[in-house]
Amino acid sequence: ESASKGGYDYFMLKEIHEQPTAIRETLLRRLDENGKIKLDDIKLTKEDLEKITKVYIVACGTAYNAGLIGRYAIEKFAQIPVEPDIASEFRYREPFIDQNTLLIVISQSGETLDTLAAIREAKRKGARILSITNVVGSSVARESDDVFYTWAGPEVAVASTKAYTTQITALYMIALDLALTKGTITEEFYFDTINKMKELPEKVERILENAEDIKKIAEDIKDSQSAFYLGRGLDYQTAMEGALKLKEISYIHTEAFAAGELKHGTIALIEDGTPVIAIAGQESLYEKMLSNIQEVKARGAYVISIAKESKKEIEAQSDRVIYVPDVDDILAPVLTAVPTQLIAYYTSLIKGNDVDKPRNLAKSVTVE
Ligand code: G6P
Repeated sequence: ESASKGGYDYFMLKEIHEQPTAIRETLLRRLDENGKIKLDDIKLTKEDLEKITKVYIVACGTAYNAGLIGRYAIEKFAQIPVEPDIASEFRYREPFIDQNTLLIVISQSGETLDTLAAIREAKRKGARILSITNVVGSSVARESDDVFYTWAGPEVAVASTKAYTTQITALYMIALDLALTKGTITEEFYFDTINKMKELPEKVERILENAEDIKKIAEDIKDSQSAFYLGRGLDYQTAMEGALKLKEISYIHTEAFAAGELKHGTIALIEDGTPVIAIAGQESLYEKMLSNIQEVKARGAYVISIAKESKKEIEAQSDRVIYVPDVDDILAPVLTAVPTQLIAYYTSLIKGNDVDKPRNLAKSVTVE
């Protein structure tokens, strides 16, 4: 087993470090000689798209959090309303599904029972199923009409990392492809965004060069009872995934909040030294985020901010800042996720937990 960890202490750390390669695979394997996205396995024509009146994104756990980012990308690029839902909730709430529904399903393993059950239910009602999965020939892949494989390579650690960032990459590509087919974006925007996506692997590499710095942050938060993650817009979705990562392997109670909701309750929980991880990767919401950081700081929070490297003024409001390279807001979740993975990893490691196999959890949940 140690050999397959490639010199890393845990699979999770190995998989975190594999992200530049994994994202490159997801992206470059699907660009043709003209740099256009070729989704050979997805046969959604312009006519098919015109018929679609409803898009759901359905998944569990980390895959669901990736879906929340996908919702933004599809709505922004392709201008189709998208409703994300947790697979175990979706099929019990009588969703509006008919032949004009597209169900986008995300599952790393392709074997999660609730996700499979959602597919079966939607199919029975006539929906078209497009799945994003990492495992070739998995049950999800077999039961879908169209499949997008992430080609991230095997993911062993229970806490999902490279599957998440490649799922987001896949969702951006699907969103761009749908948008170009529908005519809701220009070719210029399409190629410009693809070119910016090609820079993501190198930008992730730059974050990983300073991975060990995050050990200090892990030392500071390891004895905390609770930690809060804050963000706005896409950063809120990153906060949700960051909170999940830390709780599942460090056993610290975490919660993610939309920063604008702070004053509606959450701020009552902030005490002296409470760790708050503030995700500030959205340029358009940056000033609002800064004032939310000030609000928690004024109540004694220990603030760890994750920000773009050109945004140095955040240092004045934060106890620690982890920088990521500058990038367009829509692509920022791929970068801002990485420090949250490292915070979770090092905290779990320092606490002496079994990082790859957290208590009570399984890699693939094949029961309801
Ligand atoms: C389990 C795993 C998570 C994963 C979720 C969904 O809870 O521990 O890492 O996100 O299942 O799994 P899937 O294979 O469907 O993406």
